Amino acid sequence: MSEELYTPETAENTVDTPENGDNAVVSETPDAQDNGNIILEVRNLKKYFLTKKEWKIVKQLVPDVGETSENTNSDETSRADATAEQGIEEPTAELNAVEQEPKVVDVQSEANKTQKYTHKIVREKTFVKAVNGVSFNMTYGETLGIVGESGCGKSTMGRSVLRLHPITEGNVIFEGTDITRLKSSEMRKFRTKMQIIFQDPYSSLPPRSPVGEIIGEAVKVHKIVPKSEYRDYVIDIMRKCGLQDFYFDRYPHEFSGGQRQRICIARALAVKPKFVVCDEPVSALDVSIQAQVINLLKELQRDMNLTYLFISHDLSVVQHISDRVGVMYLGSFVELGSKRDIFDKPMHPYTHALLSAVPVPDPHYKGNRIVLHGDIPSPAHPPEGCKFHTRCSRCMEICKHVEPKFKDYGDGHMCACHLYPQD
Ligand SMILES: Nc1ncnc2c1ncn2[C@@H]1O[C@H](COP(=O)(O)OP(=O)(O)O)[C@@H](O)[C@H]1O
Ligand code: SF4
Ligand SMILES: [Mg+2]
Repeated sequence: MSEELYTPETAENTVDTPENGDNAVVSETPDAQDNGNIILEVRNLKKYFLTKKEWKIVKQLVPDVGETSENTNSDETSRADATAEQGIEEPTAELNAVEQEPKVVDVQSEANKTQKYTHKIVREKTFVKAVNGVSFNMTYGETLGIVGESGCGKSTMGRSVLRLHPITEGNVIFEGTDITRLKSSEMRKFRTKMQIIFQDPYSSLPPRSPVGEIIGEAVKVHKIVPKSEYRDYVIDIMRKCGLQDFYFDRYPHEFSGGQRQRICIARALAVKPKFVVCDEPVSALDVSIQAQVINLLKELQRDMNLTYLFISHDLSVVQHISDRVGVMYLGSFVELGSKRDIFDKPMHPYTHALLSAVPVPDPHYKGNRIVLHGDIPSPAHPPEGCKFHTRCSRCMEICKHVEPKFKDYGDGHMCACHLYPQD
């Protein structure tokens, strides 16, 4: 892990040409990591949503679907179980609407009805394939950066790993336990160990609670420390996150974006997690504040031996904080490797395009920007063959029909592209 502090200027552009990858040594090593040190294993993770149109059809066919029982208050609801175990998830707006007026229903018969219509929809292949077969391991204390254009499935992947979304297919194994199909009561003990920091520090804090209460709420619920030590413990976490003691009784609206994000970080870390999904944690902040928050995250990682899944569309931020980087396109990884692999020896044409778009703070630098033409295709109907072929300047005939294998080309540098040996 780099010890260097982040400033916007430390971000480098190290664009390379695809030809470099042609000389890569092909290795069949499936995973170059030390298995004894693995905190998280994600195997063939899939998360499909219904398109709005299909959700409407389901609602017409099964009017009660989406209604919920009284005792529900989260994604772990019986309604969610009834729909999501079939791979169906309702749009968030509907979720909120339903939660305001809960209604008791027979969950089992609802599940049966839903299953029937799910089959119809599966036959018609109308799911939004937000995450479509992602596999990776993470070791204790490392940071895996996830990059890719907006809509490629980064957030859905991060939330699915935490079981904030019910998973459509695949497995998530945390510290040796497969948490994929655990009931909500069984999931509870993992909730403190796996946390998330969201992008927007404005909407993710409850406006009517004082900061100390926000940070300490889960500490109380999960009995992280005895009652008598509660206040000191919260103040200690606040200090670690660069928040002064007297902020304890203040309200979120009294703080700037950077300070609010520190509150969000303190709230996530107060329950002593081991694994944290950072979903674009600095994207909503000014550049100068971004650097402070990133440096804080790095310091806290060192002190608390945290493992980060760090999602960002900003490659310079990812380059600074990550040990390894995964590049996502339309719900799947197209390249995964060490930071050095991805930034110094990129293989996939999509990674080249992303890197070529990173601004370089040098007026004499004559970059060779690769412009990607066309929009990212719909994840409900991804192109056949290589999903990137509709936008790839190096597309060959085979790319249009045959999906390239996601292969290890040495030391865990993985890539899915027909430009490299497929056997
Ligand atoms: N609750 C949802 N219902 C339906 N589609 C969704 C939902 N959440 C995300 N999606 C779709 O899944 C895809 C991936 O979204 P997301 O994970 O937010 O991407 P990213 O974080 O990379 O911008 C997008 O096409 C998005 O529209
Ligand atoms: S497989 Fe073909 S279309 Fe896909 S990235 Fe490689 S060269 Fe481009
Ligand atoms: Mg996102």
